[in-house]
Amino acid sequence: MEKSKSFALVTGAASGLGFEFAQLLAEDGYDLILVDVNEEQLLDTKKQLSDNNQITVISISQDLSYQNSAQDLYDKIQSYPISILINNAGFGMFGSFHENEWERELSMLNLHIVTLTHLTKLVLNDMVSRNHGKILNVSSLAAFQPGPLMALYYATKSYVLSFSEAIANELKDTGVTVTAFCPGPTKTLFQETVSASNKEGKIAFNMGCPKEVTLYGYKAMLKGKTYAIPGKFNKFLALLPRFLSRNASTKIVRKIQEKNRINEMS
Ligand SMILES: NC(=O)c1ccc[n+]([C@@H]2O[C@H](COP(=O)([O-])OP(=O)(O)OC[C@H]3O[C@@H](n4cnc5c(N)ncnc54)[C@H](OP(=O)(O)O)[C@@H]3O)[C@@H](O)[C@H]2O)c1
Repeated sequence: MEKSKSFALVTGAASGLGFEFAQLLAEDGYDLILVDVNEEQLLDTKKQLSDNNQITVISISQDLSYQNSAQDLYDKIQSYPISILINNAGFGMFGSFHENEWERELSMLNLHIVTLTHLTKLVLNDMVSRNHGKILNVSSLAAFQPGPLMALYYATKSYVLSFSEAIANELKDTGVTVTAFCPGPTKTLFQETVSASNKEGKIAFNMGCPKEVTLYGYKAMLKGKTYAIPGKFNKFLALLPRFLSRNASTKIVRKIQEKNRINEMS
């Protein structure tokens, strides 16, 4: 067991990719600050990781989808030196933009954009003054083109990619790196919420395994890569819009999303 270096902060750590990131960090000996809205599951995660690793695990049950949630969180953790920040919390929402509920959409905008940006700023200032730190912002393969029927989700993930790449460049002469992580479909609760196309629990075509996907992102973050797309097929899909017109790639995504909707209803 490696000795603890400093704290790693993971949002959305109670399940899915966030849980897997927390597990990797724990195995590497990092003390952890885990944040999630799901208090019960977060406490289970905390117990599991602190029982199996000689590390300190702090759990903070907090909703990160309201306007000032990053500042509220930072006020609770600012005495801990954060050397790794993983902005992972997120959720999907399916349906036509004009029909979807605004409150839910506002939560998504706040969580994916406002909180991620503000928390990055707050933690980054400390990292830059120490000239040391790593940030992983979880974007998505959805970042590379518009996504009809999941319009807001795709747009927020484009923001995360663009924002992260830009600040990674700004920070190139510091000891701080920022990585945008762009996984394709991965078998987590996220998929159960957004699409029921994988009801039987088997790994469908191009459905990533959370452990493998997360390990890829984790290694990319440690290497200080600007962005990371796990899987050859996903890399190909991310490039595809460059060879098509914007309208054509938007139409293709629409077809995929319509198929998801049919599967969901069947
Ligand atoms: N799975 C995929 O196919 C996929 C693909 C590309 C990108 N991503 C991105 O990967 C990230 C992690 O998703 P996942 O697949 O691991 O989903 P997940 O299994 O649903 O895990 C997300 C975690 O974040 C928590 N969370 C949701 N809203 C929150 C809020 N307002 N404040 C605090 N915590 C909140 C969730 O709690 P509750 O369960 O209580 O809501 C859950 O524990 C997301 O940013 C997602 O957009 C996922």
